Amino acid sequence: MKKKILIISGGISKERMISLETGKQVAKELKKNNYLVRSCEPNKDLLSEIKDFKPNCIFNALHGQFGEDGYIQTILETVGIPYTHSGVIASAKAMDKEISKKIFLKNKILTPKYFIYNFNKTNKELISFVKKKFNFPVVIKPINEGSSVNVYICTKNNLLKNLKFLKDYKKVMIEQFIPGREIQSAIIGKKKLGAIELKPKRKFYDYQAKYNSNAKTEHIIPVDLPKKKYKALMNITLKAHNLMGCRGVTRSDFKFFKGKFYLLEINTQPGMTKLSLVPEISAYIGINFINLIKLILKDASINK
Ligand SMILES: Nc1ncnc2c1ncn2[C@@H]1O[C@H](COP(=O)(O)OP(=O)(O)O)[C@@H](O)[C@H]1O
Ligand SMILES: [Mg+2]
Repeated sequence: MKKKILIISGGISKERMISLETGKQVAKELKKNNYLVRSCEPNKDLLSEIKDFKPNCIFNALHGQFGEDGYIQTILETVGIPYTHSGVIASAKAMDKEISKKIFLKNKILTPKYFIYNFNKTNKELISFVKKKFNFPVVIKPINEGSSVNVYICTKNNLLKNLKFLKDYKKVMIEQFIPGREIQSAIIGKKKLGAIELKPKRKFYDYQAKYNSNAKTEHIIPVDLPKKKYKALMNITLKAHNLMGCRGVTRSDFKFFKGKFYLLEINTQPGMTKLSLVPEISAYIGINFINLIKLILKDASINK
């Protein structure tokens, strides 16, 4: 009998379009390989879709809010069918950049210095506080977004203006800007998958640099690092994955500067379009797209 996989994609986050693309690519590949596939949205029909289709496994192809932060995972736990990627708690921790950083620091994983922006502070106070803490430039970002949505690199002159773009978020982080190289690395099923370097042509690895092929971000694999450094990178990646309690596949985003890796975040629902980084890293070590999907399905579970 054919295995039945229900793919959940789309959703309400700002990464909806990327999620639809992830879902589409995964569905196409599974169908090509003899799986019975149905795709659905995480909406009010979800539970009846599951009841009707009775999948062997649920593939979570969502990105961002409601899909990557423990919400959908909580619903899926009640359903009792194995679902892919991290569970409730790990997803919630990894999606919250403030909680993640606290965990990284407690476990001696280097991450850029930061503080949570207090919208009540006067402008003058803020500028002098930043200067005291780590000086300019700084990076501002929502604590619970992805795909570089609403991430801005700011100088003293445009910090206040840029902060206005983030006024609707409950929490905003101001981070020390780390120059240097952009390196990302992946884990699957507690195994080190590998790493890739990104060389954006734009000011940084922003939304356009990530998804618009005209932006021409260069992908470099293998990453040019001394063996010892590469090993250290993969060790930090696995340590972070494990201590957050992640499952299946994760991708960690680093800045590499003056011989040190600064962990920015762990993504528990990394993109799975054919142009995404995890499929590229895995293809490099000989795991093609369907085998990558199979590994993710193998790790699917509940109650973890
Ligand atoms: N502290 C920082 N220093 C330098 N660049 C940063 C910093 N934080 C973020 N960036 C840039 O912004 C991108 C997105 O930031 P990240 O924290 O990974 O958020 P997202 O969840 O949106 O991917 C990074 O890949 C990097 O290019
Ligand atoms: Mg990132």
